[in-house]
Amino acid sequence: RPLVTAIGGAVTLGLAGMALQAQAATEVSLGHTLSSNSHYAVGAQAFKETLEELSDGAFTVTEHTSGSLGGEREMIEGLQIGTVDIVITSTGPLGNFVPETYVLDLPFLFEDYDQARCVLDSDLGDELLAKMGEHDLVGLAWSENGFRHMTNSSREIASPADAEGLRVRTMENEVHQEAFRQMGARPTPMAFPELFTALQQGTVDGQENPITVIVATNFWEVQDYLSLTGHVYSPAAVLGSPILLDGLSDEEREWFHEAARASAQATRQEVSRLEEEGVALLEENGMTVKTDIDIGPFQDAVEPAYEIFTAEHGSEMLERIQEQA
Ligand code: PAF
Repeated sequence: RPLVTAIGGAVTLGLAGMALQAQAATEVSLGHTLSSNSHYAVGAQAFKETLEELSDGAFTVTEHTSGSLGGEREMIEGLQIGTVDIVITSTGPLGNFVPETYVLDLPFLFEDYDQARCVLDSDLGDELLAKMGEHDLVGLAWSENGFRHMTNSSREIASPADAEGLRVRTMENEVHQEAFRQMGARPTPMAFPELFTALQQGTVDGQENPITVIVATNFWEVQDYLSLTGHVYSPAAVLGSPILLDGLSDEEREWFHEAARASAQATRQEVSRLEEEGVALLEENGMTVKTDIDIGPFQDAVEPAYEIFTAEHGSEMLERIQEQA
């Protein structure tokens, strides 16, 4: 009987220990709008692995893909009210919350990936991440979406004149909308989760996104033409909810920052890989790709977007970026 009691006691203690351990793990929800084979998913997995390893399992990460928590604007709102903990988002709707980030959305601001990454990894990038703290968001790291290109189902675009009158879905971003207006297109802002159906039903004629997104979303099923305009670099950010992060110890918060940096690094690597392999894949799937585009006329067409931007937001940040780039 004492032996049975001892075993019973040990089992009870073991179960209690397991229950305590299970209770101790905090589940962190991470949302993004792309599919599980996308560059954001690669970043989400790197975030998960790093945080779970650094915290020795005290935090577990659950990834929500394909806009199941809403579009990017809705998820940023979710961070502010604490319905989601971590979001990987483009800067598309971010300027509506943190207007200082609009400067990054100016067309033809960066020439290539090295330049853009270098600016975002500099003090200026850190300052912009810190600014998010003034708007109920935690800026954890600059990640990447990629250089955006135009697709449509009507015609090949080789010059701004070809974009004239096209209904192009843009992100919910006033700087992008202005640039497309200047090109003569009809910008139609829309959340990404609505886009595939809108293209299918012909509510819009075209859209613009990086190769990464065009591949991950099978846009060849609804778009015939791709023009490698590279008209704007699209940064992404790994953002956190202050409702979770403000309650953590310094050490715990640092784990989140490190996980976000690992996420950004993994995403950038995937963007680079897809830049090399993606166009061939899109051609194999039937898209007509226009590669040799003279971007001069596009740059001239969008020039007024810079004046409109500086009139509203000042020129200080822009000049600092142009000096660094
Ligand atoms: O087009 C957009 O809204 C963004 O590029 C996307 C696809 C949601 C990725 O951030």
